[in-house]
Amino acid sequence: MAKINENFLELQESYLFSTVAKKVAKYTEENPSKKIIKLGIGDVTKPIAKACIEALHKAVDEIGTSSGFKGYGPEQGYDFLRKAIVENDYKSRGIEISEDEIFVSDGAKCDCGNIVDIFSKNNKVAITDPVYPVYLDTNVMSGRSGKYNKEKGIYENIVYLPVTAENNFIPEIPKEKVDMIYLCFPNNPTGTTLSKEELKKWVDYAKQNKAIILYDAAYEAFITEEDIPHTIYEIEGAKDVAIEFKSFSKTAGFTGVRCAYVVVPKQLMAYTEEGKAETLNKLWNRRTCTKFNGVSYIVQRAAEATYTPEGKKQIKENINYYMENAKIIKQGLETAGFTVYGGVNSPYIWLKVPEGITSWEFFDKLLEEVNVVGTPGSGFGPHGEGYFRLTAFGTKENTIEAIERIKNWKI
Ligand code: MLT
Repeated sequence: MAKINENFLELQESYLFSTVAKKVAKYTEENPSKKIIKLGIGDVTKPIAKACIEALHKAVDEIGTSSGFKGYGPEQGYDFLRKAIVENDYKSRGIEISEDEIFVSDGAKCDCGNIVDIFSKNNKVAITDPVYPVYLDTNVMSGRSGKYNKEKGIYENIVYLPVTAENNFIPEIPKEKVDMIYLCFPNNPTGTTLSKEELKKWVDYAKQNKAIILYDAAYEAFITEEDIPHTIYEIEGAKDVAIEFKSFSKTAGFTGVRCAYVVVPKQLMAYTEEGKAETLNKLWNRRTCTKFNGVSYIVQRAAEATYTPEGKKQIKENINYYMENAKIIKQGLETAGFTVYGGVNSPYIWLKVPEGITSWEFFDKLLEEVNVVGTPGSGFGPHGEGYFRLTAFGTKENTIEAIERIKNWKI
């Protein structure tokens, strides 16, 4: 008799963005004439930068020749891309990361989900609340969450770190000892950031407790203000305690092309039950070689092109376009009387829903009454209740129209 992984039975409902998509599909089917504007899932709309497309074409032609053909590539990524990442994302900021600390992959979602493979089931996990659901769900699947408490909407073995307007969206260091800490800044979903000083507190905590920080920096390219860390390795000591996740999805419009990377510093250690230190880089490399055959050559060439002068310029233009949308959303919602957070160093705008209704009720009303789709805050965790997320990744025309509809809306 084949038995299932019963941890899966502890998962709640379906994956957040699938639930949203299902609701929208149902409404669309019932109301085919309505023009629905989707500002829900953070999916980009601008075409891929020309420099990347040219690199893709060139690589496609290359693999069609006998001298340029590529079979299996290195599981960890081609040297040319790892080198470009090291030079542009780290060395340029005065950070020493070596090429063999970079692992190129097909997405930060997969990386954040897969990383749990190399950690003990007995680790205590801390997540901010609200949170990108992948961190939590993958720990549920791998048996670290314990039982779900329906009444409280939380898992018994997970340490939740509330991030709300009350604490200025700054998670408090846990009073108890935790082993794995998920941090995402600029934050998804709240769009808020952490200063170097605040982030340093986490690095210090992790050092003292031999914990590992899993740092999701997927939205780093959207930072507009000075003094906000673009990588956790800007913080002294972080290479001893942090794994960093980066993605080309939002930065370069690769949500459909698929390319990302993980940084696992070689000095990063975690421990056996007996307390023996092991290097996580070695474990992650072993896992990668076993379960992954690498990102395709042509996609890695496209990713490499994001670091050329033209690539950088074109990508910046796209990012500026989205940040202009963010401004339109933020200012428009404020004019409409909403309290709004984020949207300055992030493509996400986090708003307070009016008193007396839940995030999901607000979702339904917004969909049905003004035909705009967002993401309910409670879908990201219990402390997301009372909030709602809109993304700046739509087209400018749709963003303006959505905000005009909201401004004219008698809620
Ligand atoms: C989001 O909307 O939170 C993200 O687009 C989801 C993802 O990156 O997987």
